[in-house]
Amino acid sequence: MRRLNRKKAVNLVKELDAFPKVPESCVKTSAVGGTVSLIVFVAMATLTLFEFFVYQDTWVKYEYEVDKDFSSKLRINIDITVAMKCNRIGADVLDRSHTTVVSEGLQYEPAAFELSPQQALWQQSVVHVQGRLKEEHSLGSVLFRHALQGRPADPLPNKSAPVSGNACRIHGHLYVNKVAGNFHITLGKPLSNSRHHTHIAALYKNEVQNFSHRIEHLSFGEGGREIINPLDATEKITTQENHLFQYFVTVVPTKLHTSQQSVDTHQYSVTERERVINHTTGRHGLAGIFVRYKLSALMVRVSEQHMPMSVFLTRLCGIIGGLFSTSDLLHRLVGFFVDIVCCYFKVGSYKYKEGAPEVMVSCVSTSFPQE
Ligand SMILES: *[C@@H]1O[C@H](CO)[C@@H](O)[C@H](O)[C@H]1NC(C)=O
Ligand SMILES: *[C@@H]1O[C@H](CO)[C@@H](O)[C@H](O)[C@H]1NC(C)=O
Ligand SMILES: *[C@@H]1O[C@H](CO)[C@@H](O)[C@H](O)[C@H]1NC(C)=O
Repeated sequence: MRRLNRKKAVNLVKELDAFPKVPESCVKTSAVGGTVSLIVFVAMATLTLFEFFVYQDTWVKYEYEVDKDFSSKLRINIDITVAMKCNRIGADVLDRSHTTVVSEGLQYEPAAFELSPQQALWQQSVVHVQGRLKEEHSLGSVLFRHALQGRPADPLPNKSAPVSGNACRIHGHLYVNKVAGNFHITLGKPLSNSRHHTHIAALYKNEVQNFSHRIEHLSFGEGGREIINPLDATEKITTQENHLFQYFVTVVPTKLHTSQQSVDTHQYSVTERERVINHTTGRHGLAGIFVRYKLSALMVRVSEQHMPMSVFLTRLCGIIGGLFSTSDLLHRLVGFFVDIVCCYFKVGSYKYKEGAPEVMVSCVSTSFPQE
């Protein structure tokens, strides 16, 4: 009983065989068919290779959503060198909610404003990258690529080198509320109470105010050092006193997910203005360096995408199968038209051409058996 069932099952499976075997003696091969098969194989190999390259490649996907994270703090990373002595200047943040952020996270370090040859080289390379970034249309993806590759060793000022101390390097980080605000460096140390915010400057009569500066690094959020930011390597040298430099920065929260790293960072765009303060000509203001930042309401999610293995295999099957059946179809079609043309125009020579389509068809059946 059981054996009978098994036999039945085997028969059923045999019935389902989509590849009926053709006896070898029925199969004919020909030079034309062989050539066509060769072409098909070459095309197949080429397409498969291309498909493999597509599979290996990755691309960047951008998604936008409203930033719902309103309670966390924003980190500002600063590394800026000003061409004045440290005891003369002060840096801090004043934001829209009139909260002053005590700039305890910042360190003041005497430094030389002139760069060492090695630092100058680094500066140049960053400036070069910045130039490329401005030219490239797909700015985001270049930024992103750079993030992937990381940046070369950071040439922070050489601590062991003797410093002339004509300049001051202010570096460190601050945590601020996620509202618009302004980070500024002006004459005098900051002092604030609940109502007022002032900078108290000791009076140095004979010393000039020189707000020439170089921004080594300015970024928002964690892990910003991986990315070349728009203001990195910005250098402003002024020969005038009382110069006001303003940077208007719009910060875009960005979540970066790649196969290598996953960071929450912030990109920003910047416009800048500068002018000389001269009260006699009515150009009032306060000399200094002001970074006015505001946050974008939209958050960008950047992720690195690549084709899944399953999709790759499916597409491969599509290519191979498709080529086979298309070439078969073409064979038949060409054979059919050759038949018609021969019958119609050269009835006499028809007999001579008669074999051709049949040979083609049989060639196809050697490449892959048909029902
Ligand atoms: C730092 O300065 C010291 C003293 O001038 C020098 O010997 C050393 O090579 C410098 N290091 C770098 C990384 O430039
Ligand atoms: C400020 O310092 C820079 C660099 O040392 C110098 O080129 C510039 O002339 C100085 N400006 C003033 C107003 O002294
Ligand atoms: C302000 O402008 C006036 C008129 O152009 C000029 O004479 C004066 O030197 C300027 N002052 C400063 C501090 O640049």
